[in-house]
Amino acid sequence: MKVTIIGSGNVGSSCATFLAKKNIVREIVLIDIKPKISEGKSLDISQMISIIDSSTKINGYTNDYTKSENSEIIVITCGITRKPGMSRDDLVNTNSKIIRSVVNNSIKLSPNAKFIVVSNPLDVMTYITYMTAKINPYKIIGMAGILDSARYCYFLSKKINVSPVNIQTLLLGGHGDTMVPLYRYTTISGIPIKEFISEEDNQEIIEMTKYAGASIVNYLGTSAWIAPSMSIVKMIESILTNSRNIYCCSSFLKGEYNLKNIFLGVPIILGKNGVEKIIELQLNKNELYLLHKSAYQINNILEKIKL
Ligand code: NAI
Ligand code: 2OP
Repeated sequence: MKVTIIGSGNVGSSCATFLAKKNIVREIVLIDIKPKISEGKSLDISQMISIIDSSTKINGYTNDYTKSENSEIIVITCGITRKPGMSRDDLVNTNSKIIRSVVNNSIKLSPNAKFIVVSNPLDVMTYITYMTAKINPYKIIGMAGILDSARYCYFLSKKINVSPVNIQTLLLGGHGDTMVPLYRYTTISGIPIKEFISEEDNQEIIEMTKYAGASIVNYLGTSAWIAPSMSIVKMIESILTNSRNIYCCSSFLKGEYNLKNIFLGVPIILGKNGVEKIIELQLNKNELYLLHKSAYQINNILEKIKL
């Protein structure tokens, strides 16, 4: 099994590192437009292989897509990141051109690949991947919900002083300020969250989750990559091992939640074919309103760029 990661920057190279450690793929191919970065990163990761008892091979190339031929999964982590003061949506013009070009380059050589899209603005870039690749939309999945849910679990665990591992939650909508963490669907070792914190007090946790990405940008001058990379690896693992995990991922809707022709974060079963099933929750009026508000914002951005 071969996984190609396009973009060998912070997210792409960390994703390759964490994936190599899992030892579930034969080869990881790193590709970047910037000369030598993929070669250098792949050498560094390869030199770790004997320490971690992995048999994964890591190879890096400058813009040579022939090496990605017959990839099972293509991960898109290329493009620009936001700087302090920028929103994810400010990246749209530059990143949409980059995504179109890398998808065109890779789909010809791996027509059966599943695509995991990471570049921002996430839900819009996932849609652009679909429009460019012109393949079954269930083979294209955007990564955000696993990361945003993990951030929510982290802040909540600190507030109520329990292990984040015990928290289960669902976080719908776009990867941005309009994300929709679901209080009603959050449990702690099976116990409803309302036994620990009121909905009003939980609002503070939701705001911290929405601001989590920007807060890291303010500290580092670029966006986060450790938690994002591990989130991507969870998705790769679920697909390659067909373990059918339920994750919130940006997925193509065909009328679910009264929304269609859009990629938006919803719970899915993730397996060997990509999206195996979209889970449609019985949302209440307010939850559905917030989800539609999020979809509206994504559609607004999509309308501004020429598809
Ligand atoms: P980075 O700047 O460290 O790496 C990006 C890499 O893309 C660079 O090495 C650059 O040379 C490469 N690149 C640019 N144009 C290219 C092209 N045409 N072909 C191939 N490679 C090209 O950025 P980082 O931190 O790795 O983030 C990458 C993207 O992922 C950003 O858009 C960022 O906003 C997004 N992101 C999304 C997350 C999510 O939750 N969905 C989480 C973290 C980052
Ligand atoms: C984040 O939320 C950059 O979208 C990325 O950290």
